[in-house]
Amino acid sequence: MNQTLIAPSVLAADQMRVAEEVALVEAGGADWIHVDVMDGRFVPNISFGIPFVRDLRQETSLPLDVHLMIVEPEKYIDAFAQAGANHITVHAEACPHLERTLAQIQEAGCRAGVALNPSTPLEALRFVRHRLDLVLIMTVNPGFGGQSFIHAVLPKIKQLRKWLDQTEEAVDIVVDGGVNKTTASAVVEVGATVLVAGSAIYKHPPETYAQQIQSIRQASIRGLG
Ligand code: DX5
Ligand code: ZN
Repeated sequence: MNQTLIAPSVLAADQMRVAEEVALVEAGGADWIHVDVMDGRFVPNISFGIPFVRDLRQETSLPLDVHLMIVEPEKYIDAFAQAGANHITVHAEACPHLERTLAQIQEAGCRAGVALNPSTPLEALRFVRHRLDLVLIMTVNPGFGGQSFIHAVLPKIKQLRKWLDQTEEAVDIVVDGGVNKTTASAVVEVGATVLVAGSAIYKHPPETYAQQIQSIRQASIRGLG
């Protein structure tokens, strides 16, 4: 069984010192950098955009995992790809032409992901299986860091793992929201391959980021065992 990947979310980082904050988690063993883009329409919060991703690209060689919590994401996919995103994840709830949007992401040279809110069933993925590189399961309602993990979503992750295992191609299951050293093992146990963590890393003193990453990793190894 492969090791679980850890993707720190820069939303929780000190926004005045993002370059330093990213360098610290990179040195501390992070696998991807998770970037939450919010538009104040799809979610009730505003975060950062294309110039942020472009500048972040200069600061790290880790894959930039861009999570678009925006309406009409198809308008901005090419710009995010050009800015240096490696993965682009769109919300099924925001995409009436989901198959086309995923094709657009892949044509732009990125891995394509679909995110599902806690209340959205897996059925939304059924006819786009051929376009999936990753699926992001929200375990909080998107919009804010620091919320509590919704345990009721665990059976959905388990069901997704089962469905994806029916075919050969590897699709990552990314879990986002309220992931910490306490919730990580349950998430990995039901089949997650990537853990996004904001507060569990960045709401601690910078000199302990490596330690926080390490304890989430330890918890996920227990989940695999
Ligand atoms: C929430 C975002 C998350 C957020 C997670 O809308 O998609 O990526 O940064 O933050 P924590 O880990 O604090 O729940
Ligand atoms: Zn996110």
